[in-house]
Amino acid sequence: MNIEVCASPDLSGLFDLEGKVAVVVDILRATSCMTAGIAEGVSAIRPVSDLEVCRGLMSEDYVGAAERNGAKVDGFDIGNSPFSYMDPEMKGAKVAVTTTNGTVAIERSKSAERIIIGSFLNLSSVASYVRKLGLDVVIVCAGWKGRPNLEDTLFAGALAEKLAGNYESSCDSLLMAKVLWEKAKLDLSALVYKSAHVARLKRLNIGKDIELCMEIDRYGVVPEVNAEGEIVKAIF
Ligand code: MLT
Repeated sequence: MNIEVCASPDLSGLFDLEGKVAVVVDILRATSCMTAGIAEGVSAIRPVSDLEVCRGLMSEDYVGAAERNGAKVDGFDIGNSPFSYMDPEMKGAKVAVTTTNGTVAIERSKSAERIIIGSFLNLSSVASYVRKLGLDVVIVCAGWKGRPNLEDTLFAGALAEKLAGNYESSCDSLLMAKVLWEKAKLDLSALVYKSAHVARLKRLNIGKDIELCMEIDRYGVVPEVNAEGEIVKAIF
């Protein structure tokens, strides 16, 4: 099988996703939220691109989750903190979510055969599920407003390391991700804390989310986009 890295959703048009599994990653924080939520009992998460569509779903018993530029959008139930998704009151809930980057990356992956949600929180489970699916892989990084970012690229390198042996690649973005991961993996937070998004989150006083989003294999679930366009727990 083959593995590639799409370093930003704005590059997705350069990739043929047909017949492949897209692993969408937005470490800070959308896919970390989705992983934590599904693991802690959220029943389904509907990613949407438009704030008003997300707002409308709140009248259909969805919890409304909206973030723009890292901050919670007024008028919605929650923002984009994994701790909001982990609240015991969210067990069994359906969530409609829109974020600056993560839901954009999911939307840009819709031509893929399968779309799964990756984070450091479920890294090994993602690797196991990808191996079981046996499809070519494109890791779609959410980045920041079209620009590649550090933490999503690090995840790509970490997943590539987990998939070593069965997957080949001629993708320089993957090679860069692997080299970066090799350099950083022994002290991941030290490098990630130098990233632009950590600075943004700290300015918003939401630094506590960062440590959680950097925790490797906290959960053993893989969220996946189903035929109805909702993210649910993959059964494998
Ligand atoms: C995201 O898509 O995850 C957001 O743009 C970033 C954040 O919520 O901090």
